[in-house]
Amino acid sequence: MKEQIVLGCVTLSAMGSRTEVFRLLEQAVSQGITHFDTARSYGRGYSEKLLGEFFKAHGGALAVTTKFGVTYSETGALPTLIALPLNRLVKNLRPLVGLGLRLGKAESGRKEVERNPSAIGDLPSALAAKVGRDVVERSVEEFLKQLGREKVEILLLHEMLPGQLTEEARGYLEGLRKAGTVGRLGCGTRREVLERHFREDPMVEVLQYEGSLTERPRLMGRFPGKAHIHHSLFRGVGRGGHGEALRRALELNPGGKVIFSTRSREHLRENLEGLG
Ligand SMILES: NC(=O)c1ccc[n+]([C@@H]2O[C@H](COP(=O)([O-])OP(=O)(O)OC[C@H]3O[C@@H](n4cnc5c(N)ncnc54)[C@H](OP(=O)(O)O)[C@@H]3O)[C@@H](O)[C@H]2O)c1
Repeated sequence: MKEQIVLGCVTLSAMGSRTEVFRLLEQAVSQGITHFDTARSYGRGYSEKLLGEFFKAHGGALAVTTKFGVTYSETGALPTLIALPLNRLVKNLRPLVGLGLRLGKAESGRKEVERNPSAIGDLPSALAAKVGRDVVERSVEEFLKQLGREKVEILLLHEMLPGQLTEEARGYLEGLRKAGTVGRLGCGTRREVLERHFREDPMVEVLQYEGSLTERPRLMGRFPGKAHIHHSLFRGVGRGGHGEALRRALELNPGGKVIFSTRSREHLRENLEGLG
């Protein structure tokens, strides 16, 4: 069962110290986790950077999923040793200047929406953006560098659909897949978007989206040939119920994988022990 569990790494960069991140990851591995989920955009590249440092220190056979989006995003330049405590300090100071910042943000947000209606999540325009080879190639070079890897097990299009790739970008990705730089290609996009807009595409072998604890998502029936990876399962789960939730999610997705995230070693232990 543990080989079907993936540790989500969206919150690594918010943990305040590299030591804490390493302790969490080390414990995950010692409890049987071998697969980690990250993305170019998580923590401005710091999630990939931290995982890369951990992989280097750990040296074991660990698998990784990463993702890229419609635009190339830079990785923060500061070393993780400095960036994480700094990030925590800024977060702690924020409430002290909160009101001023909040007002400023609300104002700039309002202006942004006025200028660009798609900033409020106008789906059709978000899905219309074309993604060229340049964005994909730079993203791939950057995540391989940050992760310190020559290959990744799974690469996902992040909050976008394969139809958005130009022919050149698609050819480049298929080339990576053939060369083994990427194990499997897929799409990590909201379930609602996949249900409404995803059409069968042989390049896409993995679909990653919000799972369910009560029923098999319809996408599993519509695309039985794909690997289905489910995340965001803990909403509404009460104290002590997280391990059971993971077990239920795997029962509903026996051939796939399930992702969860935590910043707490105690929660990590509880969740994995609760799995049985
Ligand atoms: N587009 C995509 O492909 C996509 C989108 C969203 C997410 N994801 C992936 O899925 C991962 C998980 O997503 P998620 O973080 O939104 O959802 P999640 O794993 O369902 O929920 C995480 C939350 O649950 C809490 N939690 C975990 N174990 C707990 C316990 N035993 N007791 C109490 N609270 C507990 C965590 O708090 P503590 O830190 O306090 O434990 C955290 O606030 C992400 O890290 C990311 O890798 C992918």
